[in-house]
Amino acid sequence: MGSKDDTPEATYLAAASVLNDIGIAYIHIAEADWDDAPVMPAAFKEALRIIFHGTLIYSGKYTVERAEEALAKGWADLIGFGRPFIANPDLPYRLQNNLPLNQPVREQFFGGGKAGYLDYPTVNGK
Ligand SMILES: Cc1cc2nc3c(=O)[nH]c(=O)nc-3n(C[C@H](O)[C@H](O)[C@H](O)COP(=O)(O)O)c2cc1C
Repeated sequence: MGSKDDTPEATYLAAASVLNDIGIAYIHIAEADWDDAPVMPAAFKEALRIIFHGTLIYSGKYTVERAEEALAKGWADLIGFGRPFIANPDLPYRLQNNLPLNQPVREQFFGGGKAGYLDYPTVNGK
């Protein structure tokens, strides 16, 4: 069962205000991550930053460019990478050095074994 909210931004900002008041250390937002997912509005991220004074973490289809934008604009303190990390065990090294990324194999995500998790190569072959 899903849930539907006609005003999700107002709801989440109200929730963030409560979390701020009780001193929660961080909020981690998992943005919609499917291919044609709606983009989370910048105005929401700006409002969340004002309302919540703890650490803000975002994830969901981030590239190094989007991550740097979110950090530079002050929307985020940290960015999480999910699928890129699955396919690139040396992801920080690759991002730091602007190296191409292995693409994860979606069909192997829920295979239950090590295939698709432990068999992606590093740049240096280690
Ligand atoms: C194989 C797989 C399993 C996941 N399982 C969960 C889960 O159990 N609960 C959850 O909240 N998100 C889950 N996620 C979503 C991730 O936490 C994250 O929000 C998502 O991968 C977006 O980041 P990315 O675009 O960098 O991968 C899963 C993602 C993947 C790829």
